[in-house]
Amino acid sequence: MSSRFVEMASACRAERPRVALVLGSGLNAISDGWRTISSVPFAELPGLPGTSVVGHRGRLVLHEFSSCRLLVFQGRVHFYEGHDADAVARPITLAQELGVGMVWLTNAAGGIGEAQAPGSLMLLEAHLNTMKKHWWPDVVPSRVYSSEWNGILSESGRSVGVPLTQGIYAGVFGPNYETPAEVRALRVIGADAVGMSTVHEAETAARLGLEVAAISCIANRAAGLSPEPLSHADVLRMVQQAADRLRRVLEHALARI
Ligand code: HPA
Repeated sequence: MSSRFVEMASACRAERPRVALVLGSGLNAISDGWRTISSVPFAELPGLPGTSVVGHRGRLVLHEFSSCRLLVFQGRVHFYEGHDADAVARPITLAQELGVGMVWLTNAAGGIGEAQAPGSLMLLEAHLNTMKKHWWPDVVPSRVYSSEWNGILSESGRSVGVPLTQGIYAGVFGPNYETPAEVRALRVIGADAVGMSTVHEAETAARLGLEVAAISCIANRAAGLSPEPLSHADVLRMVQQAADRLRRVLEHALARI
């Protein structure tokens, strides 16, 4: 086992981080201003593969912000990289082993609902898991996202002048963006936004009894809803513009823990 991980595990026993924050595409720099206690590359964490996605640093950092200690995953593991369900959920199971009781997930997503404009932030009220493998024996609690924490994060958003919408996130396999026909179908089944992550992590966390909240940074109108063609570079650029607003919301909420 890597000595950096052993050091981090012992720092977690001493510092008792309360939250694990997973930073998605283009959002990895959000925690750069927070005090770092310990940092380990994903490749040195037990059971976690390194990351291959542009815009993901692939590092776990134990931070302190406003006297709240938290674990920050700078990057995540995706099904579309070829990883299995255990690997995708590993940041969550690891966070639980390291003692956290709450998980905040962030991601980049395409907006489907009228209110989900590029640059806006959406709190997940619920999700549609189109990546579910029906042979997984796990039971998912009927309520995944904490209404209490959605309330607190919404209030934080209002306090810092960044109103958050709430809506339903459709998790799709990727890595290709959807076709316009798929987006029309997702709209019909109730999706307000679409992305390639989050749902399996959120379900795992809820099953483990952790409190869960998730925020999508809306990077673009989903395919077919705007004349612009979609590109990963444009998505990253828009998410980076929304990252500062997300940081202000998270910092306000962290100060209340
Ligand atoms: N679709 C899926 N994932 C995404 C999108 C999208 O339009 N934008 C950012 N991540």
